[in-house]
Amino acid sequence: MQAFNFTMPTKFYVGCGQVNQLKELAPQYGKKAMVCAAKDTMRQLGILDRVVGLLKDAGLEVSIIDDVEPNPRDVDIDRQVQFFLSEGCDFTIGLGGGSALDTAKAVAFMAAQNPGDSVRDYLAGGSKSDLADVKKPYPVICITTTAGTGSEATKWFVITNTINHDKPGVGHDLLMPSVSIVDPDLMMTMPPSVTRACGIDVLFHAMEAYLAKCANAFTDACALEAIRLVIKYLGRAIENGANDKEAREYMAWANTLGGIVIGEGNSGTVAIHALGHSVGGQTNTAHGLTMCPLAVPYLEMTWDADIERHAKLTRLFGYGDDTMTQQQLAELCPKAMKGVLERFGCDITLKDLGVTEEMIEPMTDSVFQTMAGVLNNSLKPFTREDVIALYKKSM
Ligand SMILES: [Fe+2]
Repeated sequence: MQAFNFTMPTKFYVGCGQVNQLKELAPQYGKKAMVCAAKDTMRQLGILDRVVGLLKDAGLEVSIIDDVEPNPRDVDIDRQVQFFLSEGCDFTIGLGGGSALDTAKAVAFMAAQNPGDSVRDYLAGGSKSDLADVKKPYPVICITTTAGTGSEATKWFVITNTINHDKPGVGHDLLMPSVSIVDPDLMMTMPPSVTRACGIDVLFHAMEAYLAKCANAFTDACALEAIRLVIKYLGRAIENGANDKEAREYMAWANTLGGIVIGEGNSGTVAIHALGHSVGGQTNTAHGLTMCPLAVPYLEMTWDADIERHAKLTRLFGYGDDTMTQQQLAELCPKAMKGVLERFGCDITLKDLGVTEEMIEPMTDSVFQTMAGVLNNSLKPFTREDVIALYKKSM
């Protein structure tokens, strides 16, 4: 067995009603909270009011940013950091999906660094991207209202660089949230389109972590369970999410498991995410959908790199039978992937997402500049020509 290590510094509260714990938890991190909430939805659904009410009941002051949009941008983070400092906040609370949680992490991180720094300095290619000598960030509480990204369980935030359209991640052990609340009650009203885009991201986190070079016994256990749960519950959550509490509960748990495997478990994702990030940077598409066009061509290129693992995936996806050899099952994996994407309404091409042939060169540059580590986590090596070929097959 490959040796591995893991730590779980975040306190997790998982299950219906757990958001109420905020009243006891939040005062442990200071007197004034800055809530970073997803634009429009958190207010419209009454979730922002509920969270602010819990904080005020606990005697805290609250400052609010409720204009966090998908794919947070460097310029927005810099503006929000100034707000955090001018308001004299002690900690951040991310409320929403991955963008809100990443914003809370990025603001808490940047507010503690040197005045005048931009978050862009810390992104790939920036003057401080080696993250040497970073100061300890302010505490972060993550309250996830979607089942995707797994950001509540990772040491990463992802920010769009508005100058070159890269979408790199910044990862540091000090960026683990202090507390993460995963309350399926807050997810019941998520519309089907968001449930789909977030839920399919969970599948990619778990599947890619299982197919990663640095997969280990800990990440395998979490990843296989997350895949099983997504296959069983994502369709129900998309079709009847407003009423199917069980589907929401298990998708919420699958999401957190997926976050643990890509973040704390040190397993990470592979070329599918590496290439998907550049698609997001160019087109501003919902993150989860950016990987869908790449998955089948990727598996066609790599299924024979580990027969046993791809065979197992095929069976988990509900394809093949016990009479087939491991080789036959592994070879079937791309087809099984296609079937899963069709079933969840995610069988799309890069063209569907607005990608043009002219974007392939800059997207490829971006993969090697910002996601080389993730790309190299794939079971097979990927040259520049391989990346271009994968993009072209996904058009
Ligand atoms: Fe993702």
